[in-house]
Amino acid sequence: MADATPVPGGIGQSIVRKEDARFIRGKGNYVDDVDLPGMLFLDLVRSPYAHAKITALRKEKALQVPGVLAVITGADLAAAKLAWMPTLMSDTQMVLPTDEVMFQGQEVAGVVATDRYSAADGVAAVEVDYEPLPVVIDPFKALEPGAPVLRKDKGKTDNHIWHWEVGDKAATDKALKESAVVLHEKLYIPRIHVASIEPCGCVAQVDVMGKLTVWMTTQAPHAIRTVFALVSGLPENQIRIISPDIGGGFGGKVPVYPGYVIAVVAALTTGHPVKWIEDRTGNLTSDSFARDYHIEAELGATKDGKLTALRVKTLADHGYTDAAANPSKFPAGLFHIITGSYPFATAFVEVDAAYTNKPPGGIAYRCSFRVTEAAYTIERLVENMAHKLGMDPAELRLKNFIPPEAFPFKSALGWTYDSGNYAGALQKAMQMIGYDALRREQAEKRKRGELMGIGISSFTEIVGAGPSRQFDILGIKMFDSAEVRIHPTGKVLARLGTKSQGQGHETTYAQILAEELGIPAEHISIEEGDTDTAPYGLGTYASRSTPTSGAAAAMAARKIREKAAKIAAHLLEVSPDDIEWKDHKFQVKGVPGKSKTMAEIAFAAYTNHPQGMEAGLEAVDYYDPPNLTYPFGSYICVVDIDKETGQVKVRRFVAVDDCGVIINPMIVDGQIHGGLTMGFAPAMLEEIPYDAEGNNRAGSFLEYLLPTAVETPKWETGKTTTPSPHHPFGAKGVGESATVGAPAAIVNAVIDALAPYGVTNIDIPLSAPKVWKAIHAKDGR
Ligand code: CDP
Repeated sequence: MADATPVPGGIGQSIVRKEDARFIRGKGNYVDDVDLPGMLFLDLVRSPYAHAKITALRKEKALQVPGVLAVITGADLAAAKLAWMPTLMSDTQMVLPTDEVMFQGQEVAGVVATDRYSAADGVAAVEVDYEPLPVVIDPFKALEPGAPVLRKDKGKTDNHIWHWEVGDKAATDKALKESAVVLHEKLYIPRIHVASIEPCGCVAQVDVMGKLTVWMTTQAPHAIRTVFALVSGLPENQIRIISPDIGGGFGGKVPVYPGYVIAVVAALTTGHPVKWIEDRTGNLTSDSFARDYHIEAELGATKDGKLTALRVKTLADHGYTDAAANPSKFPAGLFHIITGSYPFATAFVEVDAAYTNKPPGGIAYRCSFRVTEAAYTIERLVENMAHKLGMDPAELRLKNFIPPEAFPFKSALGWTYDSGNYAGALQKAMQMIGYDALRREQAEKRKRGELMGIGISSFTEIVGAGPSRQFDILGIKMFDSAEVRIHPTGKVLARLGTKSQGQGHETTYAQILAEELGIPAEHISIEEGDTDTAPYGLGTYASRSTPTSGAAAAMAARKIREKAAKIAAHLLEVSPDDIEWKDHKFQVKGVPGKSKTMAEIAFAAYTNHPQGMEAGLEAVDYYDPPNLTYPFGSYICVVDIDKETGQVKVRRFVAVDDCGVIINPMIVDGQIHGGLTMGFAPAMLEEIPYDAEGNNRAGSFLEYLLPTAVETPKWETGKTTTPSPHHPFGAKGVGESATVGAPAAIVNAVIDALAPYGVTNIDIPLSAPKVWKAIHAKDGR
């Protein structure tokens, strides 16, 4: 994109974020800021039991609480055929129960009151009688014969949801049998929860004309409107979903939660706008969860370290309903990116999903539909294989990486990687961190009995869904959109089908358009998230915005340029064939002095356009990507471990990322810093465990340990640039790379430090007691 005269705010410039002007002054407009005349408040009664029969539910006392206007129950919803709703994976989910509760924290009734405090008092006054039922928490036990069957409502006779497999089983079995070295590892990636600063919520309003408007914390407003239309029977023009500023989404704001639906029902029944804002415990106990994958994997290699085959068997705990937002073709998301950065000749992956008495699982927590689970598995295995072979883990990777000249590369499990230079990224990370010197230091320390470890993760990501031929959510094809309009004075309004939750889209989309139109970014306004105004799109998750709507913005701008070139020819009195787009303006070929800027052309488009041509200067593009993009990176982590306490300290962490052409380096760096912290979190601290009765043991921030600035290591970042060959300007997504890549680097460093003890795995999070136990497993302490 190097240019003699860069357009102000064009691609590659670290301009400050436009949206920060309102955020840093506390002037963001979040759902909880929406305040409508006559607005009521909804609060939810939640189940204390993980599995129980509801034998009675009495509203009377709650209705006597001053300010309480209504109590909505499952029976009320059932009368309107709204007690159940579809999930995004075509399963069914209760809005409110009529007979049984299926997890602790499940919504049992809604209380509507004039203010939030009265609603909370009303919740406390609703009387529910429960008869506890046997609880199924362990997914392995859930699949045993004789386990209580949880989804009899679906006609199920067991708790098995689905089996999914991909790859060549026979060839993989044979290759593993013939491999000189076979590594076998069991890994558990525990249940974690998105902990956005802003929990979920909505304000639902029905106007006098019967139009429903919902201000909602959703990452996918158009898809939600379609689901609402299909479920309620309301026509789409009578439903408006507005996703205002969102305080973090990370995949947790893709599904439809019962609170949203109950708020809509409450607005319809009371005739008042109704606000529902989830509290932290509601958020940590009842929304959809991530991970919860029990993985058993085998990796084969030759004696001299050539990887041969990969076989993976996984059990996925989906809770009581499969509410993951996965493409319908891929119930285990993109888990089959698990061959990672390596050219396996053969691989086989199978996943089984089970129902348990937990809230729904399987959301893509800052990752592209299960890619974190995949990247963690392969990078943990490769590290362990290096230890088993007595090879340096960097050397093993460098020996096996898919070479740059092999791209586009077809993986053993069916993906076509667009571009990559894996050795380049790892070598850069090694040079930044001083790898050889660190290995020497480690050898010295080992002699003295000190525990220091170095861990690598060379991950390959897969982001940017579509293509629509492969990807859909509930049958809605995955593409995305941009609508660009240039006003007469050369100022631009663009609307897109995605929805920022803090990623800085108002800035970076403006930068793409600035580059493509030659108009300064400060003259370009970006809008997202309102279904009445934005073109239809699938929303923002899975790092798809840049690969899809970012591409659509560039393509819409190029459509505008086609028309603008004709206007330029008209103004410059030459043939359109004599016009070229150069240096961000239209020039007469070979006559640089004769040129017109886009702003001049925009004015003419409304005041002096050629006869026979339509007035105006605008275009819309629905971009269906020909392929996904495959960003990648190499991370190296150095840890020191206190032998006496098991405390792990991340001393250094170098992250080299490659997301192709970068739109805004400062924003990408911010994305990587945040992503690394969200990768460090599950590796070291975060987990939602359940006890045998199904009690959630981490329902508040006292137990669910988020890393603060105190725990978070200092991140050192670097980059390489390998453009995507199929994206209009060579960009790949990046928002999730660091969350995907970081955990394996940290765990690998800890396992490397503990190699003298023969430790090959500790399941995350790596708490001090777990590490201490691993160190002292054999000395009887
Ligand atoms: O879909 P989401 O916005 O979460 O992910 P993304 O497309 O990876 O973008 C995250 C942020 O990084 C956005 O502001 C992008 O415009 C920016 N970005 C960038 O500046 N350059 C890239 N090559 C990729 C993303």
